[in-house]
Amino acid sequence: MFFNMNKIALIGLGYVGLPLARLFATKYPVVGFDVNQARVKEINCGYDYTLEVSDDVLQSVLIKNNPFTTPPLHSANGLFCSANLDDIIDANIYIITVPTPIDKYNKPDLTPLIKASETVGKVLQKGDIVIYESTVYPGATEEECVPVLELVSGMVFNHDFFVGYSPERINPGDKEHTVEKILKVTSGSTPEIGEQVDLLYRSVIRAGTHLAPTIKVAESAKVIENAQRDINIAFVNELAKIFNILEIDTQAVLEAAGTKWNFLNFKPGLVGGHCIGIDPYYLAQKAQEVGYHPEIILAGRRLNDSMAGYVASEVVKTMIKKGINVNNSDVLMLGITFKENTPDVRNTKIVDVIHALEDFGVNVCVYDPWANAGEVFDEYGIKLLNDIKSVQRNQVNSDQHYDAIILGVAHNEFLEMDLDSLKKDLSVVYDVKGILKIYDKKL
Ligand SMILES: NC(=O)c1ccc[n+]([C@@H]2O[C@H](COP(=O)([O-])OP(=O)(O)OC[C@H]3O[C@@H](n4cnc5c(N)ncnc54)[C@H](O)[C@@H]3O)[C@@H](O)[C@H]2O)c1
Repeated sequence: MFFNMNKIALIGLGYVGLPLARLFATKYPVVGFDVNQARVKEINCGYDYTLEVSDDVLQSVLIKNNPFTTPPLHSANGLFCSANLDDIIDANIYIITVPTPIDKYNKPDLTPLIKASETVGKVLQKGDIVIYESTVYPGATEEECVPVLELVSGMVFNHDFFVGYSPERINPGDKEHTVEKILKVTSGSTPEIGEQVDLLYRSVIRAGTHLAPTIKVAESAKVIENAQRDINIAFVNELAKIFNILEIDTQAVLEAAGTKWNFLNFKPGLVGGHCIGIDPYYLAQKAQEVGYHPEIILAGRRLNDSMAGYVASEVVKTMIKKGINVNNSDVLMLGITFKENTPDVRNTKIVDVIHALEDFGVNVCVYDPWANAGEVFDEYGIKLLNDIKSVQRNQVNSDQHYDAIILGVAHNEFLEMDLDSLKKDLSVVYDVKGILKIYDKKL
């Protein structure tokens, strides 16, 4: 009964929502809904600025009309995107993939999730299932979102409508572990709904599914996956600080220790982006709410957040040791996105490195072939160098070269760059990612 009738509305067409909408659209009629009209227009034109879905793959599922309302009804697979609420009225499965950021005090900000729940509440009908994918703290779906759905729809939870939770595990920029190739955790508000939600995802996720016993278990599983990564990275970042003082090569140490079968392979670095640096705060908030003050989770966050200032001070120290005048020096930062080979600049810690360097009186030029210059300027007030020619020709202090070059992000393009041609006679190359063959210092 369930499958032939699936009409899926996907709410929030970002890094997570669009790949999922595209995947479901290979099998079901899907309407993608987003409040950002420019985003909807761009997708309907067959382009995804996040670069998570390639143009040809996207265009292969796009359809021109709403599949819920255009004959033959319920049979046409494909993706139609809209910013119009009327277009999702006839869905019976709603999947919510909106952002779950933190505010300036590092507290979870559920506003997009609440607003998306209000939107769905307005069109919810008897028997519908609402599946949340956004990362949250344990309990958020049933304690924060369900009451909104009930209030706005006037219907009763687990009687008139049902809820599921299936966290997303994609890794932006990773073309190997795409959504259908990552095992998906599923859950439902009743055992039967759990089975239905699981069946739905199993029909498109090639890697299979894991049906968790409750929504809270599924929510907890997701948030600890990222908290665990954050803590492990914090540990190697601490090691990097210790070994730098001891003048021991951290990466050589990690390589040697990594020969043991159960040594975990983590590298030091800046922890930015939308997930690893954010999600632990969701878990911490819930723990604090129930009277437990997390120590390791928040210590990991503090350590990782200190790394941008640490990188800046290491660059400056290396410059001083080489006899380079730091004040008014010109430094080239290669990369501004939060990680390699993605245009995603949200919560990038490179910006913190830039500000810390500017505090030392350094002029920082930034080049990133992946980032959108307009977005970087709007978000951070930083002007990117347009292209590699402007990196080479940049007139800095009437000299065309740089006092220091920082490899901040491991974009593939940077591996091929001739850094020597950009250096002054006396200059520093600092490698945050540990990928360069020739450098003066690395993290
Ligand atoms: N980006 C990742 O790699 C990743 C991986 C796993 C999990 N997640 C989680 O998935 C969720 C979504 O993240 P994302 O990176 O896709 O976010 P995103 O910012 O890329 O996309 C969110 C989209 O939702 C839209 N939106 C916001 N509020 C809306 C509303 N009320 N109604 C309709 N549309 C709305 C925005 O316009 C945007 O297009 C977050 O909880 C995140 O933590 C993200």
